[in-house]
Amino acid sequence: MKICIKRKIKPFLFFVFINVILLVFGVFTHFFEEDFKKFHYPYEGNIEEFIYKLKQNETPEVLPINYYNFKFNIKPKNKCENIKNLRLVFIIKSSPENVHNREAIRISWGFERRFSDVEIRRVFLLGLQGSNIVQNNINKEAKDYNDIVQGNFTDSYYNNTLKTMLGFTWAIHSCSNSRFYMFVDDDYYVSTKNVLRFIKYPTQYPTYLKNPTKNFNKALHQRRINQLDLDLNENVRLYTGYAFESSPLRHYTSKWYVSLEEYPYNKWPPYVTAGAYVLSREALMDMYYASFYTKHFRFDDIYVALLAFKAKIEPFHCEEFCFHKKTYYRKNYEFVVASHGYSDSKEMVTVWTDQKSLGFA
Ligand SMILES: *[C@@H]1O[C@H](CO)[C@@H](O)[C@H](O)[C@H]1NC(C)=O
Ligand SMILES: *[C@@H]1O[C@H](CO)[C@@H](O)[C@H](O)[C@H]1NC(C)=O
Repeated sequence: MKICIKRKIKPFLFFVFINVILLVFGVFTHFFEEDFKKFHYPYEGNIEEFIYKLKQNETPEVLPINYYNFKFNIKPKNKCENIKNLRLVFIIKSSPENVHNREAIRISWGFERRFSDVEIRRVFLLGLQGSNIVQNNINKEAKDYNDIVQGNFTDSYYNNTLKTMLGFTWAIHSCSNSRFYMFVDDDYYVSTKNVLRFIKYPTQYPTYLKNPTKNFNKALHQRRINQLDLDLNENVRLYTGYAFESSPLRHYTSKWYVSLEEYPYNKWPPYVTAGAYVLSREALMDMYYASFYTKHFRFDDIYVALLAFKAKIEPFHCEEFCFHKKTYYRKNYEFVVASHGYSDSKEMVTVWTDQKSLGFA
């Protein structure tokens, strides 16, 4: 009798066990995903005309469905006003307590007077951390360096979209005269020199530097200009970094788990990893106004991708934005625009100083 029960229970338990595993890893969920070909995301419908109207300060036929009306706790004074030929603004997503990272960035890649002939500015984006000591330090930094943008929301991973939109809002309302904006995390190494060389000819980077006369293909560049525009065209809509096409993660234990209710499709819209990316002014404008017609999403890289998708801007891929830490040796960083993995600010400054001495930063 005993043996008989055991025999029946064992396969049954095994069956339950397997199913639990499959559930946890989200295998069943994938069967219920919808095809990305059928992709739509609220607001339903074409929003290009609404974007155009908002840019002209006119009222669109359909009222916005999404508002980020930020209260700024701290904002820099006269950061960008009256600067002629402002080329690049670093908008650095930082955590309130990461004082050392900010100090390191100010004296290395974020140094505003790095090049005498190129206007560069830098701000740090912060939320609220809740500690008075931390806040007092931030107030002091803001006074000393005039580079803090702080929003009145809790600083946390799942509020990263808020932080990004705080940056968009600040840029549109207080610094809309720059040609390019680089959004980057405070644990990155960046070569400002390579950012500038990249935005000059994104479609030819870095080949045009390797052998300027031989490899720089003027005809090819001219052809691509029509799609990507670039320097000759003020209206370039550049959304660039390390671009991905991937699928949502459905296992419950993942930091990036999403339910079907939150996002039902089998693919994400094409996106650029949010650790480091560059937007031209025109892309920033269109994507900012697209946010009024794009339902909130808590992952910032996906939300930014949704904005680009709605504004019909295709991401432009560049290998030199490394979302992992690129192995360090001198030659390996010659063309690197940005590399993740530098939460140790001393290491970052060491690498930057080394690269600068080689003429690569
Ligand atoms: C931020 O400011 C708004 C408007 O003053 C307020 O309603 C909201 O509660 C504030 N949020 C936090 C987290 O302080
Ligand atoms: C995001 O910030 C808001 C406002 O401070 C807060 O109420 C909310 O809990 C935060 N969300 C997360 C996921 O931390």
